[in-house]
Amino acid sequence: MPSYNTDELKKRFIVIEGIDGAGTTTQMKILAENLRARGYRCVTTAEPTLGPIGKLIRSILSGERCVAPSTVAYLFASDRNEHLFGSNGIVEQVESGSIVISDRYALSSLAYQGLTCGEELPLRLNGSFPAPGLTLLFDIDPEIAIARIKRRPQKEIYETLEFQKHVSNMYRTMADKLQSQGWNIVHIEANADIDTVRREVFLKVFGFLGADTTR
Ligand code: TYD
Repeated sequence: MPSYNTDELKKRFIVIEGIDGAGTTTQMKILAENLRARGYRCVTTAEPTLGPIGKLIRSILSGERCVAPSTVAYLFASDRNEHLFGSNGIVEQVESGSIVISDRYALSSLAYQGLTCGEELPLRLNGSFPAPGLTLLFDIDPEIAIARIKRRPQKEIYETLEFQKHVSNMYRTMADKLQSQGWNIVHIEANADIDTVRREVFLKVFGFLGADTTR
């Protein structure tokens, strides 16, 4: 594992997680804009990444290519390794003083690949990646989430109500597991409208950063 400064990641690496349609991407953008307006240096990023491994993953998720479920678990872990340690990656950004917010990280693999290829492989592949300082896990009713996804033009292989119900349960199980290993995971009630969720997200993140919430 490449070297990195755990303290810097603990201070400035934030992850947003949740089932498909939970609103993580929207809230990440709102949060980042607000933090920048407050003078923080803040970068947003996502997994699967825009790099070559992320693109290969996307072609699998769209149904264009088909590989064994365990291969998908390896690909997500490789994409994550590059995301963390590659040029301009999470570690580099955090160590240069930026707050990095990622739309998904290792907990996604434990939840999704934990279902498609069993718990053991994703736990093993992701076990040595560093913990973020804060993970916000969006709790949302899968029925509400799937209704949002249905409005999108592009569909992915995991986007069925049945599967998302399982992902939702797996997220809870795996979040408890990681919490018992010291991860700082906070649940966000994400059934509400964008502004209500935004307020809850701000509260948690400002608390984490030690920011002034009265502004
Ligand atoms: P998603 O955040 O939905 O991207 P977009 O909104 O651009 O489609 O992520 C794509 C899918 O990838 C989503 O269904 C969750 C899945 N995924 C995994 O299965 N394992 C992982 O480790 C990650 C990061 C994502």
